[in-house]
Amino acid sequence: MSAHSDFIAGLPKAELHLHIEGTLEPEMMFALAERNGLTLPYASVDALRAAYDFGNLQDFLDLYYQGTDVLRQRRDFYDLTMAYLERARAQNVLHAEIFFDPQAHTRRGVDFADIVEGIDVALRDGAESLGISSRLILCFLRDLDVDDAMATLQAALPYLDRIAGVGLDSAEIGNPPEKFENVFDRARELGLVTVAHAGEEGPADYVRGALDALHVARIDHGNRSLDDDALVRRLAASGVPLTLCPLSNLRLGVIKDLKDHPLKRMLDRGLVVTVNSDDPAYFGGYINENFAAIADALDLDRGDLARLAKNSFKASLLNDSEKAGHFARIDAYAGG
Ligand code: ADE
Ligand code: ZN
Repeated sequence: MSAHSDFIAGLPKAELHLHIEGTLEPEMMFALAERNGLTLPYASVDALRAAYDFGNLQDFLDLYYQGTDVLRQRRDFYDLTMAYLERARAQNVLHAEIFFDPQAHTRRGVDFADIVEGIDVALRDGAESLGISSRLILCFLRDLDVDDAMATLQAALPYLDRIAGVGLDSAEIGNPPEKFENVFDRARELGLVTVAHAGEEGPADYVRGALDALHVARIDHGNRSLDDDALVRRLAASGVPLTLCPLSNLRLGVIKDLKDHPLKRMLDRGLVVTVNSDDPAYFGGYINENFAAIADALDLDRGDLARLAKNSFKASLLNDSEKAGHFARIDAYAGG
């Protein structure tokens, strides 16, 4: 329990870096396995949770993709998304920009329509019943080839009214942003916003590549940016936000200790950074637990936390008047 837990709990927040497949809690994994007549290679929820001991990103990805196998039907995607929205709302998340990985499902024979419709209907229902606004961002798996990404973009064409942007995730090292330049060019022609994971395990050069080749509106993670001073100055001057994920970084060995996390140094250098949960079912916490852990580790005060919450809306895809409404809500809560 952090000294700031109550303050964080009441703080209005946006979540901008959240893989919907990473919200698949072990209990739901077992329930969906049963619904779909599958047997998991774990005896119990506890045995599954005990396997969540990752040395690096690839260790995690192996389990994450294995976990997605229980997602088969439209209603599985609906239930997964609705469960996340309910948890998010309980943590005072008022806006969520949600990643999904269609290739992790279509390669197993799931219909693109079932994935998007299941998620999208839950997002609409969540807007109505919980008051959470949202955007959906399609991520390409960067360890698959470019043709697969282009075919996935093609498959998304009938659903572009429900998809706000494209992103890039999965195994980073050896899969630089430039590999996807043509796919992202096409996505931008189609009116989609672009974002990309960069500088999580990969070098600062991949952050630069995401800016130059993919013209991203945000960098997801971006931890390694601090290795390159000119890049930091560029990020500060342009205001391109970084969506940071403290507990993810700790659990994947990107940092050894939360005290080493770059968030405070980035704030001090004038970068627009936000706090997010990435894959909360796997990393031991949703957004409030991420806020609390980083607040304690880096000795953040209420002013820092309110600034991080404001950054989350500032860095979002909401329009200016929606952002202004959220800033006012945070000021009213945090005392200006
Ligand atoms: N897919 C889901 N979570 C991810 C992460 N943290 N990095 C890269 N790909 C991911
Ligand atoms: Zn991520």
